[in-house]
Amino acid sequence: MNKLAADLAAALDPVQLARRVGMEPDPWQVDVLRSDHPRLLLNCCRQSGKSTTAAVKAVHVAVYEPGSLTLCLSPSLRQSQELFRKVLTTYRALGRPVPAESENALSLTLENGSRVVSLPGTEQTIRAYSAVRLLLVDEAARVPDETVAAVRPMLAVSGGQLIALSTPWGCRGWWYEAWEQTGSTYKRVRVPASECRRISAAFLAEERAALGSWVYSQEYECSFAATSAQLFSEDTLRAMYSAAVRPLFPTT
Ligand SMILES: Nc1ncnc2c1ncn2[C@@H]1O[C@H](COP(=O)(O)OP(=O)(O)OP(=O)(O)O)[C@@H](O)[C@H]1O
Ligand SMILES: [Mg+2]
Repeated sequence: MNKLAADLAAALDPVQLARRVGMEPDPWQVDVLRSDHPRLLLNCCRQSGKSTTAAVKAVHVAVYEPGSLTLCLSPSLRQSQELFRKVLTTYRALGRPVPAESENALSLTLENGSRVVSLPGTEQTIRAYSAVRLLLVDEAARVPDETVAAVRPMLAVSGGQLIALSTPWGCRGWWYEAWEQTGSTYKRVRVPASECRRISAAFLAEERAALGSWVYSQEYECSFAATSAQLFSEDTLRAMYSAAVRPLFPTT
């Protein structure tokens, strides 16, 4: 394929862009890269490739949608920068198809007017942005509910896309609730380690022994487990409120 045709293919399809930077996306990554669903939840195990996928998506939007704004949000600035670093690596590996006006550890501004910005998950710093085309929330289960409530309106006018990637972290918080709720608001993608061809069974056995079942099930099996500090499990607590159990001493 000549360069012009390759450029055109990458412009039309983020999967082609991924291939141009040497990545052969897994089927679930293909699905995410091509999805224009406005709300995506990626409940994928450690090291499955969530951040890499989100970074490819961010570069595709920045390069091929002039004037677009992409935000990378995480519980801390350090974690947002990790995701942003993957964005920069992808952009550079692509050969900077649109030149950068400025490129630093926190943001990338392209000559086509697009920006990719990394932010800490503290509500005050985020409110300044609007008309977000793509909002990437990494380690989403650990981003506070208030922060998410503050950023969601930024997607309203632009009709932007939210992609929240995480492993589970207890049965609480906005990400858990979004995952569990019924309806079609969210598109859910679940990738346990047993389905990731880059993670060996031997490594998983070692991790299970080292981490214990509570951490392991969340990190590698996409399972929402009650918190380790919780005396009674969620199931036990829910069962306490079962209508099927009749009180011993009825009050009425
Ligand atoms: N399709 C792929 N082919 C080959 N390597 C891949 C693919 N997807 C991801 N990787 C590699 O797998 C490793 C983990 O990727 P990444 O950091 O994106 O995972 P993650 O799910 O965000 O992990 P964590 O939960 O630790 O944040 C990286 O080295 C990345 O380059
Ligand atoms: Mg990651």
